Amino acid sequence: MRIIEKISDIKAVIKEYKKFCKTVGFVPTMGYLHEGHLSLVRASKSQNDITIMSIFVNPTQFGPSEDFSKYPRDMERDSRLAEESGVDIIFAPTVEEMYPDGYKTYVNVETITEVLCGKSRPGHFKGVTTVVNKLFNIIEPDRAYFGQKDAQQVIVIKKMVRDLNMNLEIVTCPIVREQDGLAMSSRNVYLSPEERKAALILSQSLQEAQNLILKGEKSRAKVIEIIKSRISCEKLAKIDYVQMLDAKDLKDIELIGGSILIALAVKFGSTRLIDNVMMEV
Ligand code: PAF
Repeated sequence: MRIIEKISDIKAVIKEYKKFCKTVGFVPTMGYLHEGHLSLVRASKSQNDITIMSIFVNPTQFGPSEDFSKYPRDMERDSRLAEESGVDIIFAPTVEEMYPDGYKTYVNVETITEVLCGKSRPGHFKGVTTVVNKLFNIIEPDRAYFGQKDAQQVIVIKKMVRDLNMNLEIVTCPIVREQDGLAMSSRNVYLSPEERKAALILSQSLQEAQNLILKGEKSRAKVIEIIKSRISCEKLAKIDYVQMLDAKDLKDIELIGGSILIALAVKFGSTRLIDNVMMEV
């Protein structure tokens, strides 16, 4: 496995792969890898000749009061895990390489970035679409792999790819959970043992909502209220949002039907966790 930092170097390697008609699968990450990321690598390896992973903590998707500087980083551990899971190349540029002095260009997907996490984290998705666009231009993948845990991110990236006629397939892989149900996230390391235990309320309340809907509940308001009241019973939990939206366009719904996304963001101390469930009703 090679680790490449320079854009010109990785472009040269990719040119060689393309010459031999190799298909390229791409797994963009911010590092601090967990089983969720490795499931994306496995999916990429099963569908492509070459798998490239990027590890880049992207400053433009963090707000001024967010955790950019303390976001967990461990390149040594990440490269070991990536190599063991069969990644061919890690692309790990510096911030200066990606955003040199005088950088001025941003990509913005409108409307669907103004709800859910976009509302609580203004500018976040503009940073995500900008860096993902740059990475797609550098790597030129045939397929790129994203986790369903960041449900809104996947919807926004798919929209960008469609709107800008980009020539690749976006593959979404299921949420990977710890045995007790907590959705895997690099940010889980911030949780104290008490917060880690309290955070189980997220997957439990989503599961309860899912069961209610499967039994025929049609009222969005009622299901959301039940989730909120369950989470509020946890003293350490502070709800940012709990919402149910149309999964295709992130528009509001009143009656439950079609493709729905139930998404939530909840803070435990200073750690903000997200989780969701997508259903066809
Ligand atoms: O999901 C993430 O880790 C990041 O948002 C991504 C897609 C790597 C862009 O920085």
